[in-house]
Amino acid sequence: MNKMVIVSGATKGLGLAISKKLVESKYIVVGVSRTNSEEYSELTSNHPNSVFFQTFDFSNTDKISTLVKNIVKSHGRPYALINNAALGHDGVLATMHEKDIHELIKVNVEAPILLAKYASRSMLLNRVGRIVNVGSIIGSTGFNGLSVYGATKSALGGFTKSLSRELGRANITVNTLAPGYMETNMTKGLQGDKLKSITRRSPLGRLANVDDAAQATLFLLSDGASSITGSTITVDAGSTA
Ligand SMILES: NC(=O)c1ccc[n+]([C@@H]2O[C@H](COP(=O)([O-])OP(=O)(O)OC[C@H]3O[C@@H](n4cnc5c(N)ncnc54)[C@H](OP(=O)(O)O)[C@@H]3O)[C@@H](O)[C@H]2O)c1
Repeated sequence: MNKMVIVSGATKGLGLAISKKLVESKYIVVGVSRTNSEEYSELTSNHPNSVFFQTFDFSNTDKISTLVKNIVKSHGRPYALINNAALGHDGVLATMHEKDIHELIKVNVEAPILLAKYASRSMLLNRVGRIVNVGSIIGSTGFNGLSVYGATKSALGGFTKSLSRELGRANITVNTLAPGYMETNMTKGLQGDKLKSITRRSPLGRLANVDDAAQATLFLLSDGASSITGSTITVDAGSTA
């Protein structure tokens, strides 16, 4: 039977690239985000028996347990969870609205923790599973104007490490994927000189893209990655080397 994967934020950017590669590799995908996108709808229409969409706003953290219960009821126990959905609000901390700070922490930290809590119950019953938390190189390098976002991403890195210790005995791996800058909706505000200077830092002279990061995610779900847990895989075209 094909393995089912829950992908948060599956409708755009990296989540969409991951979903496409998962389908190619014969996984069943349950994608969750606030609104569907044209591309994700197309994927669903082309693969009606293996790609599904569930609308949900991850700022409603008190409903995550019900969300996961409903997914399990409809599609069975997940093999893997890709904690990919996140907000990328930027701003200087001193003037950032408190509402934005709270929302970033809710969607980028609280929601993935709760998704992992409820999805891991199924994985514990199956005695196998994979959790990939999508962090960012910003969680370890820092970036002007991204202090709260950076805090949420390094929180996920810490979460990965301890959770991998907790779940390892049940054959469940937990890893962080740390992409560098990729051109998506989240980064559309970064252009011109700033973008050029990010590209210059890469020894490969280019940026990584969503397909590069999606490929690494697929690897973490494969049999070949069964001994990798508690790790961070960085996909940044060498920017942090
Ligand atoms: N782009 C980069 O350069 C970069 C670099 C390092 C790490 N990352 C990380 O990679 C991941 C994907 O980012 P991306 O660049 O692909 O971003 P994106 O293009 O903005 O896509 C984000 C996805 O998350 C969903 N989402 C956002 N807020 C949500 C909420 N409250 N509830 C439910 N779904 C929500 C969005 O769908 P809806 O808006 O419809 O809800 C969308 O599907 C994130 O974890 C990001 O931090 C990105």
